Amino acid sequence: TLKGVAFDLDGVLTDTARAHYRAWKKLADSLGIPFDEERNEALKGVDRMGSLALILGDRPAYDLTERQRLAARKNDWYLEEIAHFGPADLFPGARAALEQCRAAGLGIALASASRNAPLLIARMQVADLFDAVIDPASLAAGKPAPDIFLAAAAVLGVHPAAMLGVEDAPAGVQAIHAAGMKALGVGTRAALPDADWIIPAIRDFDLAAYSA
Ligand code: G6P
Ligand code: MG
Repeated sequence: TLKGVAFDLDGVLTDTARAHYRAWKKLADSLGIPFDEERNEALKGVDRMGSLALILGDRPAYDLTERQRLAARKNDWYLEEIAHFGPADLFPGARAALEQCRAAGLGIALASASRNAPLLIARMQVADLFDAVIDPASLAAGKPAPDIFLAAAAVLGVHPAAMLGVEDAPAGVQAIHAAGMKALGVGTRAALPDADWIIPAIRDFDLAAYSA
């Protein structure tokens, strides 16, 4: 039986996937590097420096110092994108999904690769609905490695086999499965072929369907 749920944030509970894309697009444009929404798919769920590495590819002109400068610039643009975020920026039904899990007595963790996640859940006024927020800086490897979901299970005190992970990114679904959990995909079956269940959006979250 299900005892805990680990939610991704960006693209699951709020539309920050768009905000991340716009900030990366600005950076890529400023460098003259081709980038579009299709290439952006591979960045979803991937941490900041990992995403930058995917954009720069094998261009040798950027050493670590330069890469850190570029990542900081992207984050400044991203912070502008989310500067006015509030409760209205939650996807419809996001708060209700968290409340469903609480009402069922499940442990709830936030498993986001974003270092901006604590800021966002505070601004959107859902921080109190989480029992745990995993700090991605504390992990050895980002998604698709299982670390963040294993940390969520550990801090909730729930065996991974009794956990559900909720993700919008292929790297995230991979991480959930690598942790030994069931994966609920938010998006399309075409984008997330390996998810155990698919819902088009978080408003369709129905805990009873994943508790079997
Ligand atoms: C999430 C997003 C990624 C983002 C990553 C790091 O996983 O899906 O697009 O790159 O977080 O976010 P950060 O806010 O730390 O740069
Ligand atoms: Mg995501």
